[in-house]
Amino acid sequence: MQPVIFITGATSGFGQATARKFASNGWKVIATGRRVDRLNALEDEFPGIVHGITMDLTDAASIDAAVAAIPEGFKPVTCLFNNGGLALGTQPIPDVDTGQWRTMVETNVMGLLHTTLALLPLIKQVGKGASIINTGSIAQRFAYAGGNVYGATKAFVHQFSMNLRTDLAGTGIRITSLEPGHAKSEFTAVRTGGDFDANEKMYADNDPLMPEDIAEAVWWVATLPDHVNINVMEIMPVCQVPSRPVILKRDDFEN
Ligand SMILES: NC(=O)c1ccc[n+]([C@@H]2O[C@H](COP(=O)([O-])OP(=O)(O)OC[C@H]3O[C@@H](n4cnc5c(N)ncnc54)[C@H](OP(=O)(O)O)[C@@H]3O)[C@@H](O)[C@H]2O)c1
Repeated sequence: MQPVIFITGATSGFGQATARKFASNGWKVIATGRRVDRLNALEDEFPGIVHGITMDLTDAASIDAAVAAIPEGFKPVTCLFNNGGLALGTQPIPDVDTGQWRTMVETNVMGLLHTTLALLPLIKQVGKGASIINTGSIAQRFAYAGGNVYGATKAFVHQFSMNLRTDLAGTGIRITSLEPGHAKSEFTAVRTGGDFDANEKMYADNDPLMPEDIAEAVWWVATLPDHVNINVMEIMPVCQVPSRPVILKRDDFEN
């Protein structure tokens, strides 16, 4: 039987590249996201191999409906790539929009939780050799101004992955927290409210990770021998440097 990967956020960036990687290498792909035109385009690119299902991560009923709509030929599910997510806003506290905070928590935290729970019965049918790969970020470990709630949602993803692994011990299901750094996708355009120029500028003079690099990592993690679990995978481009903590001078303080 062909293995199946269920991908959230398959309409862009990491998820789209991962859909292409798996579909080109003998897996079936359930591609989800809100943008139907992009799901249709993926289906057209891989007829009979990619099955698109519209799904909104902020809506539990939509997630349940998507899981219920998985066709027989796309069950059980060998790998769940919990990837859909976003950052909104770049301003430090207190210049923030709490509506954006709510959307990030509902998408990156509640959406990931609900998707995991809804799909678990289909993943358990595979058991040994199945995997759940959760997309965290280096932002969970390296704080930066304006990263406030986004980084915190990714810290949640990291710790939830470890806790999930503990809860599912004995099922044979592998759990990974995949934690990329600076990567080119539509991430910055979304974060800035649709500013595609800002998106291009962010990556213009440097060599970021590309979605295909992440797809390669997901492929490696998902196809390792059954007994191997990658707990955490942190990836940065060479141009990104984990730096030392900042020291403020006395003059840098407000009072
Ligand atoms: N790019 C980076 O530098 C970077 C670094 C570390 C981690 N990450 C994480 O990697 C993941 C993928 O991001 P990306 O860089 O590939 O960004 P992207 O190109 O903007 O893709 C994000 C994907 O998430 C989906 N999504 C967002 N909100 C959704 C919702 N409410 N319901 C369903 N799907 C939703 C989008 O689909 P629709 O809009 O069609 O719904 C899209 O397919 C995210 O979790 C992000 O936080 C990114």
